[in-house]
Amino acid sequence: MRIDIVTVFPEYLAPARLSLLGKAITAGTLQLHVHDLRDWATDRHRTIDDTPFGGGPGMVMRPDVWGQALDDILVGLPSDTRIVVPTPAGVPFTQRSVEQYVEVPGVILACGRYEGIDERVWEHFGERFAVDQISIGDYVLAGGEVASLVFLEAVARLLPGVLGNEESALDDSFAKQRTGGALEGPVYTKPRSWRGLDVPTVLVSGDHGKVASWRASESTRRTARNRPDLGSLRPEDQE
Ligand code: ADE
Repeated sequence: MRIDIVTVFPEYLAPARLSLLGKAITAGTLQLHVHDLRDWATDRHRTIDDTPFGGGPGMVMRPDVWGQALDDILVGLPSDTRIVVPTPAGVPFTQRSVEQYVEVPGVILACGRYEGIDERVWEHFGERFAVDQISIGDYVLAGGEVASLVFLEAVARLLPGVLGNEESALDDSFAKQRTGGALEGPVYTKPRSWRGLDVPTVLVSGDHGKVASWRASESTRRTARNRPDLGSLRPEDQE
């Protein structure tokens, strides 16, 4: 899968080359291209923003700079490349979205800063490409870079061969295989007894059936406590 990220802070994306993502890049499973938006600015000061029409605080990113950047990056990319715009005003980004992005050949992540990007950019490119405005949560970040890292890690770990143990993705919180995409329950390792606290006996019983049903009920319990909104959804509502 190819992912292009356009940002005014390319250094912000340095962690994308570490750990699991770094390995996916080395293995060729993930092709990551980070672009500095200022390379498409046309003036001496490399300006990429201006004051908002209609007034108000802050600055808005210019459509001409973004337009040229996206034109150049899109040359030669498949027509089903998706343009993803992280913004607090976007559609919630969930594990269901992640599963859909894993299937596409490429994504361009357009990182906004300041008050955002001139809306005409999405009107224009939306005529030829799918443009998805996504939000990673109900809070406001300073820009799209951290959200892009979130996107990148969530998607890359589902690419074939990226996780050491393919099955572990099936067990994740929100995994479809878990009843209705609920949360993962608690986990334990050695020592069996620590500071007077013992591992639940069922986990050392060797009875796989009992272990599975204990995990299912812990998952249900945790979901009801931490995320009652998820617990109320039936599996068929999760698509
Ligand atoms: N940019 C700023 N805040 C954001 C959020 N919550 N999600 C995605 N992108 C953002």
